[in-house]
Amino acid sequence: MSNLKFIPYTDFEPLKEEEMLKRSKEFYNKIKKRRTIRHFSNKEIPIDVIKNCILAAGTAPNGANMQPWSFVVITNKAIKQEIRTEAEKEEHIFYSTRATEKWLEALEPLGTDERKPFLEEAPCLIAIFSKKTDVLPNGEKAKQYYAQESVGIATGFLIVALHNAGLVTLTHTPSPMGFLNKVLNRPVYEKPFLLLVVGYPSENAEVPNIHKKSLNEIADFIE
Ligand SMILES: Cc1cc2nc3c(=O)[nH]c(=O)nc-3n(C[C@H](O)[C@H](O)[C@H](O)COP(=O)(O)O)c2cc1C
Repeated sequence: MSNLKFIPYTDFEPLKEEEMLKRSKEFYNKIKKRRTIRHFSNKEIPIDVIKNCILAAGTAPNGANMQPWSFVVITNKAIKQEIRTEAEKEEHIFYSTRATEKWLEALEPLGTDERKPFLEEAPCLIAIFSKKTDVLPNGEKAKQYYAQESVGIATGFLIVALHNAGLVTLTHTPSPMGFLNKVLNRPVYEKPFLLLVVGYPSENAEVPNIHKKSLNEIADFIE
């Protein structure tokens, strides 16, 4: 790395309007095929694909460039099984007592329940942790800025990178997720953000028949 405080930005690629339109449409057509998958095959994933996708996630914009995230990749069967057991314990309490009627109503079209077989069936889980404070190599504590927003953006990059690499994901948030610190031996200053289930869809995988809001419903243009 150079010691200069500022360096010229030479990576910008100017495009003609026509090309911009084409690329934006192509990207939309590609990303709209992403769906949350809840039925996975056990086919293994080349680990270098996961590594590249995490590198892509690590390029995300973030508060004061503190990069307040950790990605823990789990392919070990026994650990996946332990995560399933702990997640199902929490989800049992969630579905039977913690969730409000309204929340359960909102979840009903998705067909989710307390059983989480995908946590064992999928070849790879990525536990994403957000750091409110970090511990520097010299042992000093460093406050992190906009940790939640930053980790949310990095997770978005990761999901898009995995989709682009031909994989499917499930953003899973067993509630609460504190057990992940224990199972994965993470320090207390790392807060579980979400558990990304990664792999290939099972042969007869189905998805809820839901729709996305139109442009008019999600955007206003003030000229
Ligand atoms: C923060 C977050 C938490 C989620 N938690 C869960 C979850 O615990 N279990 C689950 O089955 N889906 C979960 N989902 C997936 C959503 O239900 C899904 O993204 C939504 O229904 C839209 O469907 P789509 O991803 O196929 O477009 C979560 C999504 C997000 C962004």
